[in-house]
Amino acid sequence: MSKEKTTVSVIKADIGSLAGHHIVHPDTLAIASRILAEGKSKGIITDYYVTNVGDDLQLIMTHRRGVDNNAVHELAWNAFKEAARVAKELGLYAAGQDLLSDAFSGNVRGLGPGVAEMEFEERPSEPIVIFMADKTEPGAFNLPMYRIFADPFNTAGLVIDPRLHQGFKFTVYDAFEGREITLNAPEEIYDLLAIIGTPGRFIVRRVNRKGDDEIAAVVSVERLSLIAGRYVGKDDPVAIVRAQSGFPAVGEILEAFTHPHLVAGWMRGSHHGPLMPVGLRHAKVTRFDGPPRVVALGFNIKNAKLVGPADLFDDVAFDEVRRMALIIADYIRRHGPMMPHRLGPEEMEYTTLPEVLQRLSSRFVETGEKKAAKPKVTSELLTSEKEKEAD
Ligand code: F6R
Ligand code: MG
Ligand code: MG
Repeated sequence: MSKEKTTVSVIKADIGSLAGHHIVHPDTLAIASRILAEGKSKGIITDYYVTNVGDDLQLIMTHRRGVDNNAVHELAWNAFKEAARVAKELGLYAAGQDLLSDAFSGNVRGLGPGVAEMEFEERPSEPIVIFMADKTEPGAFNLPMYRIFADPFNTAGLVIDPRLHQGFKFTVYDAFEGREITLNAPEEIYDLLAIIGTPGRFIVRRVNRKGDDEIAAVVSVERLSLIAGRYVGKDDPVAIVRAQSGFPAVGEILEAFTHPHLVAGWMRGSHHGPLMPVGLRHAKVTRFDGPPRVVALGFNIKNAKLVGPADLFDDVAFDEVRRMALIIADYIRRHGPMMPHRLGPEEMEYTTLPEVLQRLSSRFVETGEKKAAKPKVTSELLTSEKEKEAD
């Protein structure tokens, strides 16, 4: 008989926060913890850890029920609902923001919360790293995931360790078209980079080890604006990565965050800024509602219990990364409302800017000069000939 499997579920939502979109209130953390404690005593989940990164309430849960389980998702939904109720009572800002629907029907996907879940057979020691970011979008993990699982200049094990040497498979989600593609690294890295370089649309959602197909990483891909059809905050993402013994080492996984790369999000979800790795004590967004931050919590999973966490970025080894992030923040802030600090027009579609532009449209006058051809956007180029015919 095969061993019983363990599931790790990280489900998060912004249910309202203290002093603007800044930080989760302790009372909302407390009520969410109480709901999960009840779920644990009823046997719905085996263990849990509740925390926050900026204004996002994070539920980290372990259980034996597999991914997309109704009972686990309902428990998370109830925890968010109760926390939102407390947030409303306290007059917290944007209370209930990410709970886009009142009708729960078995799964939180598509209702607002972000979800990263993976199921596996535990190894004798099962180290994992959970990443949680605020003021950015799921595609922010594209570059680090690439570096962890495909870049030998980041991950020495890809070259040195025969268990990693075969490489990894990346499953990339097309958030505009609701479809996915799986590409192999290292053979197809140029194709992989050609699409994940557009992180607002193509999101690395899963990584599997080649050879045995073992799950290595998952990322939440929910995009709130695409669900709601309007701007409702960025889709602050979460990710789970397995470490050691045939997967990248914890240090290789963290190394991918030593370059504070530019991500979309920050103020009003409308600006590029550096992703700054921080410990939990600095997981709050202040300057210009940011800069975007990411926390890494390390756990060991044993018999579906969470041992830990270790607050991995809370270390002097990341001080210089943070310093560089702050220098980049200063530099890019000086662009004010100009691109490339402000996002490009495609991404601004989902913000409040179109309302402003709408008012100006009638004031443009035709000059009779030659019009330039509109550029072919990626979506058009990536539509298959068959789909075009069907249209
Ligand atoms: C970004 C975010 C904040 C708000 C900003 C304006 O994800 O949550 O930067 O967009 O504080 O918020 P409102 O429009 O609620 O005043
Ligand atoms: Mg908020
Ligand atoms: Mg947030």
